[in-house]
Amino acid sequence: MNFFICPICKSPFEQRGRSLVCPNNHCFDLSKQGYVNLLRPAKSGAVRHGDDKLMVGARTAFLGAGFYDALRAAVTETVCAHAKENPVVLDAGCGEGFYTSHIRNALGEGASVYGVDVSRDAIHAAARDRKLRLAVASIFDLPAQNESVDILLNLFAPYDAKEFSRVLKQGGTLIRVFPRERHLWELKCAVYDTPYENEIDTLELDGFTLTQKREITFPLDLNKQEYIDTLFKMTPYYYKTSREGQARLRALDSLQTHAEFLLAVYTRNV
Ligand SMILES: C[S@@+](CC[C@H](N)C(=O)[O-])C[C@H]1O[C@@H](n2cnc3c(N)ncnc32)[C@H](O)[C@@H]1O
Ligand SMILES: [Zn+2]
Repeated sequence: MNFFICPICKSPFEQRGRSLVCPNNHCFDLSKQGYVNLLRPAKSGAVRHGDDKLMVGARTAFLGAGFYDALRAAVTETVCAHAKENPVVLDAGCGEGFYTSHIRNALGEGASVYGVDVSRDAIHAAARDRKLRLAVASIFDLPAQNESVDILLNLFAPYDAKEFSRVLKQGGTLIRVFPRERHLWELKCAVYDTPYENEIDTLELDGFTLTQKREITFPLDLNKQEYIDTLFKMTPYYYKTSREGQARLRALDSLQTHAEFLLAVYTRNV
């Protein structure tokens, strides 16, 4: 039986050849790369679905250059510390799988690691790692059975406490990471006349108990224009900045900024 469930009738899928088919004969073909698109047309009224090619490409280049390796190590360590034997892990909003792949490698063959993202471009990129099981789907309508997940990851992506609580097993672990108030502050100062601090997501989540909170801060030495450009393009600021602000940034050869994140670990209440 497949991990993913039918988005229409919520029944489990069976794999038949290159398709996932539910008992009600709803059929979803696997792509050449092996992922499945479970996004329902009725839910796809919006113009953009998650991150586009430009953002995905920029993030792949920036993360690939190693700038967030310290964060990836911290997240992986946290996952491994909470993993029981043969864990089922779901990365909700996995992007191009930078953390997902690394975590799968660290957990080894016994682990089943799944990723879901609403962006087809992101899932297409994540599918380079053939060991990940991937679906294009929304965090707000996860294609997973009730109480089927041991560890749920939610890194820099929207969250839905009710959905997370539904798919996690009792006592399962939720790991969230999000930027803190002054994440990339110097980059913002270079672009905006009056930069604003980030508003921080609430730490309280219905149905969960917060068990660990860790601040992770490190410098980012962007010593090439190319790094400044890719970092900027992977942030939401890119689409919100005037041409003047963008030109200011393009004029810089280097920029010293810093990353500041909060890593929060929760247990799903029984
Ligand atoms: C900032 S990126 C983070 C990606 C990845 N977790 C990482 O840290 O590299 C946010 C991701 O959330 C995805 N996303 C946004 N809304 C979503 C939704 N409703 N359901 C699933 N994914 C969503 C975007 O497409 C994007 O890939
Ligand atoms: Zn169905």
